[in-house]
Amino acid sequence: MEQFDFNNELSGKIALVTGGTKGAGKAIAERLLSAGATVIITARNVPETPNDNLHFISADLSKPKGTQQVVRKVLEQFGRLDILINNIGGSETKGGGFAVLNDTDWEETLQINLLAPVRLDRGFLPQMLEHKSGVIIHIGSIQGRLPLYDSTLPYAAAKAGLINYSKSLSNEVSPNGVRVLTVSPGWIMTTSSVRMMERIAESSNTSIEQAKQQVMQALGGIPYGRPAEPEEVAELVGFLASPRANYLTGTEYIIDGGTIPTI
Ligand SMILES: NC(=O)c1ccc[n+]([C@@H]2O[C@H](COP(=O)([O-])OP(=O)(O)OC[C@H]3O[C@@H](n4cnc5c(N)ncnc54)[C@H](OP(=O)(O)O)[C@@H]3O)[C@@H](O)[C@H]2O)c1
Repeated sequence: MEQFDFNNELSGKIALVTGGTKGAGKAIAERLLSAGATVIITARNVPETPNDNLHFISADLSKPKGTQQVVRKVLEQFGRLDILINNIGGSETKGGGFAVLNDTDWEETLQINLLAPVRLDRGFLPQMLEHKSGVIIHIGSIQGRLPLYDSTLPYAAAKAGLINYSKSLSNEVSPNGVRVLTVSPGWIMTTSSVRMMERIAESSNTSIEQAKQQVMQALGGIPYGRPAEPEEVAELVGFLASPRANYLTGTEYIIDGGTIPTI
C-alpha cells in the first residue's frame, strides 16, 4: 500500500473550484490549497477577501459562454486540470410552491445547479481521459433526496438530476481512470443560508432566529443540533479529491449531521 504525505498530498495537482469565493466553495478552495494543489476559483464577482494564492477567473456559469471561457482559460494558462469541484449552486426562487414558479425560475435554477456542471465536465473530460486520471466532484444537496417544496422545488429537482447524472458519468469514465463523486451536504451556515433565512423571515413576517428554527423543523431536525460549518464539508471534499480516496468513484457522500431520517 502506497504511503501518503497527508500535508502535501495534492502537490503538483491543478484544481478548479467553481463558486470558490464564498461559503463552501471558499472553504474547499482553501482546503485544496493547504494540501499543496494549485487552485483556480471562479465566480461572477471578485472575492471580497482575496487570497493571493488562489487564481481567480471571473465568469457567469449560468451561460454556456461562461463555462466555455473557464475551460479555455484554465487549459491555456495551466495546461491541464486534475481536480474539478463543481460547487456552484443554490436557489433564488420565491416561496409559494409550484403555482408561483414560471419557466424562467425553473430554467435559471437548472442552469446553475445541473447544466453548468454538465458543461464544465464536458469541457475538461477529454484531457482527463487522455491522461487517464482526474477527479470530478459534484456538490449536490440532501434536497436531492429530501425535497422541500415550498421555495426550493426546482432546486431539489436539479440536485436529484445532478446526483443521477454523476453516477451515470462515473460508469462511463471510471474505466478510463477518472473518478466521479457527489458530496451532498445538509444545511451549511453560509452567506446563502443567511439570505435564505432573511427571505423566509420577510415572507412569513418573523425574526431571523424563528426562520432558523423553521428551517431546522422543515428538515425534520438536525440530530447533531446545528448546521455544518463550510470547513467540515471542505474536509470531506479534500479527502475525496486525494489519492487516499483512489478506489472511490460513482458514490454519493452525505454530510448532514444526521438530517436524512432514513438509512
Ligand atoms: N448553503 C447550504 O446550506 C447548502 C446546503 C446543501 C447544499 N449546498 C450546495 O453547496 C454548494 C455551495 O453553496 P454555498 O451555500 O456555499 O454557496 P454561496 O455561499 O451562495 O456561494 C455561491 C458561490 O457561487 C458563485 N456563483 C453563484 N452564481 C454563479 C454564477 N451564475 N456563475 C458563477 N458563479 C456563481 C458565487 O459568487 P458570485 O455571486 O460572485 O458569482 C459564490 O462564489 C451549492 O452547490 C449548494 O447548492 C449548500
